[in-house]
This record gives sequence, structure tokens and C-alpha cells, in this order.
Amino acid sequence: MLLAEFRLPKNSRVTKGRDHPAQSGKRLKAFKVYRYDPDSGANPRFDTYTIDLDKTGPMVLDALIKIKNEIDPTLTFRRSCREGICGSCSMNMDGRNGLACTTPIAGIKGEVQITPLPHMEVVKDLVPDLTHAYAQYALIQPWLKTVTPPPSKERLQSPEDRAKLDGLYECILCFCCTTSCPSYWWNQERFLGPAVLLQAYRFLADSRDEATGERLDGLEDPFRLYRCHTIMNCANACPKGLNPAKAIAETRKLIAERAA
Ligand code: SF4
Ligand code: SF4
Ligand code: FES
Repeated sequence: MLLAEFRLPKNSRVTKGRDHPAQSGKRLKAFKVYRYDPDSGANPRFDTYTIDLDKTGPMVLDALIKIKNEIDPTLTFRRSCREGICGSCSMNMDGRNGLACTTPIAGIKGEVQITPLPHMEVVKDLVPDLTHAYAQYALIQPWLKTVTPPPSKERLQSPEDRAKLDGLYECILCFCCTTSCPSYWWNQERFLGPAVLLQAYRFLADSRDEATGERLDGLEDPFRLYRCHTIMNCANACPKGLNPAKAIAETRKLIAERAA
């Protein structure tokens, strides 16, 4: 008797797709790219595109743009700034989450396998559906909240208080951390995940914000905050070198302090 099925259901299995060999070139490199169109009813597949690195820019995003422009215009991915600022080109390359625009092709040995960020619904090909993640971001009310009357000019902040936002304000919401977090994979309906929790702490740490109590009330929940088990995948995955696990620990400390 079959007690458990350990393979993906048939309609989810990734099949072998099309090969697009290079016509010519000396420094050839193969890119095995995940392709999926939920509207087509077809299984996901891996298409392989071989291109000449002498005719491509140095980053994985350069290769994807070349493939889309010159070989297969149906390939779908997100990108905007191409310099690690907008966060839109996050994907999984060679088993690691990162930004395609700042990931050098030269750093990946052999074939370059590219898949969407893990454990997210796929809109098409390399584009993950971030609807839920953005709803979670909205939940933490990512703006400064004040109760005191506004001053005649801007709300000032000392250089020391401003420095407390270092390591937080740089987050570009690429969700590389969140989609590498096992706790988020298993509890994404209720656990906010490292990106959103780092953003939540960014406002808790801001001397100009006056809603600390209300913010902590919103986070003090067995799932929203406390599903983090300090596995640290998030810090390893962050392409900006940030440490969401530390921000989560600081938030827990604030909750513990106010209970004391
Ligand atoms: S430290 Fe927490 S948030 Fe970061 S990967 Fe681990 S469980 Fe997820
Ligand atoms: S903390 Fe890093 S990995 Fe996570 S969303 Fe922000 S920039 Fe991306
Ligand atoms: S294209 Fe903007 S971060 Fe990569």
C-alpha cells in the first residue's frame, strides 16, 4: 500500500524543454532557465539557451536580456535599474537567491540554472507573485507615524539616531531573504518573514516614529514574529549584506523589555 507520495504531482513536474544551441562563438555558456505559463495548462519546463560570453555583458541579467532580445522574446522576468537598487530582478541562480543584475556569470561554474524565487506562486517564468508579501508589508504600516503636532520645519534627528537606521534603510524589498527562510516556506500565511520584519524594525528604530507601542502590539503574535527560529538563511541570502535575523532579535528584545 502506498502510504505517501514523495514526488511532485504529475502536473507540477518540471519537464525538459527546448534547446537553443549557439550558432557560433568561442566562450559558450549554457543557461538552463525555468519556463512556466500557468495559463497554458502545460507543465513547467527548463529551456536551455547557449550564448557566447564574448558578446554578453558580465552579469546574469545581461545574459537574460540577450536571450530575450535575440533568441526568445517570450522569456519573462522582472528588472529595472540593473544596478542592485530596485530589487526587481531577484531570482534563484545556481541554487542561491540573489539579484541577477549584480550576480557575475563568471562566478558560476558550468551550466547556469535559473529559477524563480523559491516557494512563491509563479506569475510567469521567472516572475514570482509578490501579492501576499506586499500585503504583509502593508500590514506593518511602513511609514512614520506621529502623534505630536508637526514642527514648523522637518522633524529633526541627531546623527546618532540616524545611524541606528544603518543596516535597515538599505533594504530594497527584493525578498531574497524571505524566500530563503524555511519558517516562511512552511508558514507564509501567518509568519511575516525576514524582509517585512526587518522593515518593521526599521520604523521601531526610528527616533522620529511615535507609534512604538502600537507597532509592537501588531507584532506580538506567535506566528507573525515568533516563527523565526534563527536559522540565519536570511542574512546569508541578502544581496545588500543586511541581517534581518538581528532586526528580528532586536524586536523581540523590545517586546521583552516592555513586558518587564
Ligand atoms: S533567522 Fe529567522 S527569519 Fe532568518 S531565515 Fe532563519 S527563521 Fe527565517
Ligand atoms: S533584507 Fe536584504 S534580502 Fe531581504 S528584502 Fe531587504 S534587501 Fe532583500
Ligand atoms: S534590476 Fe534592479 S536590482 Fe536588479
